[in-house]
Amino acid sequence: MTTHLYRSALLRFADDGAALYDQDGLLATAADERGVQRVVAAGSWAVLSGQFAGQGVTHWPGRIIAPGFVDLHIHFPQTDVIGSPAEGLLPWLEHYTFPHEARFADPAHAQEVACFFLDELARNGVTTALTFATSHPGGVDALMREAQARRLRLIAGKVLQDRHSPDGVRDQTEQSLLDTEALIGRWHGQGRLGYAITPRFAPTSTPAQLAGAGEIAARHPDVWIQSHVAENLDEVRWARELFPTSRSYLGVYGDFGLLRERAIYAHCIHLDDADRALMRDTGAAAAVSPTSNLFLGSGFFDYVAADRAGMAYGLASDVGGGTSFSPFRTMLAAYYVGREGQAKPGVSLTPEQLWWQHTAGAAKALGLQGVVGNLQPGCEADFVVMNPAATPLLARRTQAAQSLAELLFAMIVLGDDRLIERTVIA
Ligand code: GUN
Ligand code: ZN
Repeated sequence: MTTHLYRSALLRFADDGAALYDQDGLLATAADERGVQRVVAAGSWAVLSGQFAGQGVTHWPGRIIAPGFVDLHIHFPQTDVIGSPAEGLLPWLEHYTFPHEARFADPAHAQEVACFFLDELARNGVTTALTFATSHPGGVDALMREAQARRLRLIAGKVLQDRHSPDGVRDQTEQSLLDTEALIGRWHGQGRLGYAITPRFAPTSTPAQLAGAGEIAARHPDVWIQSHVAENLDEVRWARELFPTSRSYLGVYGDFGLLRERAIYAHCIHLDDADRALMRDTGAAAAVSPTSNLFLGSGFFDYVAADRAGMAYGLASDVGGGTSFSPFRTMLAAYYVGREGQAKPGVSLTPEQLWWQHTAGAAKALGLQGVVGNLQPGCEADFVVMNPAATPLLARRTQAAQSLAELLFAMIVLGDDRLIERTVIA
C-alpha cells in the first residue's frame, strides 16, 4: 500500500468543532479498497513522522493544508446568472433564472456549463457540493458524468417544478417522478456521487408532485432531499396561500414527508421557533446562504435562534442568487450577517466557527461527518493547499497574525480564489 505524505501547516477539526492547527504538520493518505485516498494520519510532523521514516514526502513550506470546502447549496445552471439584480426573489426567478434554466434542455449547453462549474468549484477549493440542476434530466446526466470523471463527491438532483413555472422549465408530474427514480438508479452511490430529490420550492410543485417526492424519499432513506424555504416574505405569503392547511411554510414539507435527515433546506430565514424545533426534531438542516440573502435583500439568518433550537446548518454559496463561488466571500458575508442579524446587533461568529460551517459542519449537515469536510484519520482526502502570501496584503496581514483566530480571520476577510494554490481530490 502506497502512502502519500504531505508536510506543511495543517488545519483540521475535532469532533466538537474546535479547530486543530499544526504549524509544522503531517498529512498521510492511502488508497482504500475502492481506490479513494483516505487520511491515515494527521497531526504534528515532530510526533508522527517517525512512523513513516524513509518514505518520500511532498513538502510545501509556507503553505497551509486544510479540508476541502463543502458548499451546502448551489445551482450549477445559475453559473451565468450571478450578478443579476432584481427587486427580490420572485422577479429574479422570473426575469433571469427561469429563462437561463430553460437553455439546459440542450445537452451540449448543459455539458459546457457543467465543465465550467466544476472547474470553478475546484479553483475555489470546493470539493463537495450539493447542487440543483434544472428540470431537464439530461443536465443531471451531464453534471454527474463530469463529476465522476473528476472523482468528486458531488450530490445533485433534477428540479421538480410542475406548476407556476413557464414553458421550458415546467415538468409533468408523473414523468418528473419517473425521471427522479431513474436518475437515482443511474447515479446514486456510483463511485462518490449522490442523488438529491429536488422540489424547487413548495409554490412551484403541485401537492401530487410533493407527495410523490415524499414517497420516493421514504423508499430511499440514504438519498438526499434539497429545496428552498422561507427565503423571502412574498414567497412565504404565496406558500401559505397555496397550502393553507399546513401550520407554516416549512410545515408543508413536513406534511409531505420531506423533512428528515439528509434533507437540506436553503435559507430558513423567516422561520419561527416551532419551525426551528421541527428542523431539529426531524434532523433536517439549513443551508445558510448569506451572499445570496444580502444580494436579493431576502433577510438575515438568525444564528442565535438556530443555536437555541439546536437545529443543524452549514454554509452555502447559493450561486447564482449568491455572488461568489469563493468560500471566503461566503464566510465573510456570514460574519456580517451574524453581526447585524435581526434582533441582536453585535453578536457574531468566530473565524473557527465560520470555517467549520463551510467544512466539517456542512459535512455533518449532510450526514457525511468523518467522510468529507475534515482531515481526521478515516476521512476521504479532499483537501486544499493555501498560500497565505498569495497577495501582498494577504502576506503582510497573515504574517502579523498572533493566533490561529487572527490567521483564519485574515484569510476569510482578504482571501479569494488566489489563496487556493491547489485542490487535491481523494
Ligand atoms: N427559490 C426557488 N428557486 C430558487 C432559486 O433558484 N434560487 C433561490 N435563491 N431561491 C429559490
Ligand atoms: Zn438556491
